[in-house]
Amino acid sequence: VPVSNIRNFSIIAHIDHGKSTLADKLLELTGTVQKREMKQQFLDNMDLERERGITIKLQAARMRYIMNDEPYCLNLIDTPGHVDFSYEVSRSLAACEGALLVVDASQGVEAQTLANVYLALENDLEIIPVLNKIDLPGAEPDRVAQEIEEIIGMDCSNAIRCSAKEGIGITEILDAIVTKIPPPQNTAKSPLRALIFDSYYDPYRGVIVYFRVVDGSIKKGDKICFMASGKEYVADEIGVLSPNQMQVSELYAGEVGYLSASIRSVADARVGDTITHSSKRAECALPGYSQATPMELREALEKLQLNDAALKFEPESSSAMGFGFRCGFLGLLHMEIVQERLEREYNLNLIITAPSVVYHVNLADGETVECSNPSLLPEPGKRRSIEEPYVKIDMLTPKEYIGPIMELGQERRGEFKEMNFITENRASVVYELPLAEMVGDFFDQLKSRSAKVIASEALSAIRKDVLSKCYGGDISRKKKLLKKQAEGKRRMKAIGRVDVPQEAFMAVLKLE
Ligand code: GTP
Repeated sequence: VPVSNIRNFSIIAHIDHGKSTLADKLLELTGTVQKREMKQQFLDNMDLERERGITIKLQAARMRYIMNDEPYCLNLIDTPGHVDFSYEVSRSLAACEGALLVVDASQGVEAQTLANVYLALENDLEIIPVLNKIDLPGAEPDRVAQEIEEIIGMDCSNAIRCSAKEGIGITEILDAIVTKIPPPQNTAKSPLRALIFDSYYDPYRGVIVYFRVVDGSIKKGDKICFMASGKEYVADEIGVLSPNQMQVSELYAGEVGYLSASIRSVADARVGDTITHSSKRAECALPGYSQATPMELREALEKLQLNDAALKFEPESSSAMGFGFRCGFLGLLHMEIVQERLEREYNLNLIITAPSVVYHVNLADGETVECSNPSLLPEPGKRRSIEEPYVKIDMLTPKEYIGPIMELGQERRGEFKEMNFITENRASVVYELPLAEMVGDFFDQLKSRSAKVIASEALSAIRKDVLSKCYGGDISRKKKLLKKQAEGKRRMKAIGRVDVPQEAFMAVLKLE
């Protein structure tokens, strides 16, 4: 579609006022996602999520809408729901020309909504007021419309009344997006400037950047430069979000899309940075970029939790390690992904200690408390019994490994439940065993007892080669250098700060 038929908008709403429900309805009504597919897609994402331990949430979606026989391209750009991210919200809004202001007609305007409305006004966005949940018996659209008028000072006489749940008023909203929100300016001939409004780290493809082309155009294979970080890359893949990623060959001013360029660190392509061409640079970057501030672990965990609901954490202090957080994961893979993301995306250096489990302690007075640390265990007199979490595991194995696997189960306080031959050579072995016995190196042990070693080699320890600059010559000189090295090492052990590498904690666990 021509640029005059593009509309870029976002939805501003307080939590629970119906942003997601409305977004789903817009996608459904424009045929972007079929109703049946929607559930399906959700499930697919859940699988992916489980596989990778991260939530894939809607960041942007391109919809096709036909009004008066004219096709329009509507881009919905999502804004982070959390108030702490006003910078990220402001960059998402800067990528739009308009916004829907969704207010629950049974509740009214909330303070948090206001902050985002002001950000939208600062970015000169056209705001369309929408009163949602009019199907509720307690809905008072007239009162709430007046409230918006009074608080924000905008005309709400034509505010759209809708029910995202019942699908009432959705067409009116789509029509208003077309008629009220201005199209982007046609600046496709200018040097490229694209605004990054979101990004995430994909373990397979590197950082995926979401952007709005403000000026010029971008093609697959273009050599691009991020103006704030100064980093250069080749755009291996560009595409649109519909809402799944769909590759295209080129994107022009006014359009919204994503790109991947084997970017290793989110810091190279931060939200708010401007993408331009390496060979034909834009004169100045788009306004509004702000430097990253160093993150505390708590901030980083909170931020990560926003798109990874499965991540749980609470403050903890240990006598050996000092302050930290106790985190809950779906499994070791999830843990590794979270660690990787904290290190790569938030520039943190972490030490993760061995996993542990939570016990239920039944007290003498009938109460039950959770206990995750031996030092917190109630005194013997006060407790009646302790319950340990158990898992039921089903191990599928070729029949020759049944023996070693059962041995492992037995060693780990497991209780043998059953064994069935699935085929002549494959069996399923079922055990019930304490979760505490499984969270450590159980899986590694299982693999090492049942996997063949294909190749192995013993490597000697590496030392710094202090003799590298010493060709031939007198043996006493070499001895002197080696002696100096040995002395240096001894001193390091005595006075050096001990850095315990992450691997050490897991390695200790794996010792027999
Ligand atoms: P967050 O994702 O937490 O930010 O919330 P949200 O603003 O996206 O709200 P969401 O769409 O999840 O809706 C919140 C609740 O309101 C859900 O239980 C919806 O089913 C309900 N809801 C949304 N729209 C309507 C509506 O038009 N009528 C009624 N009765 N309920 C609605």
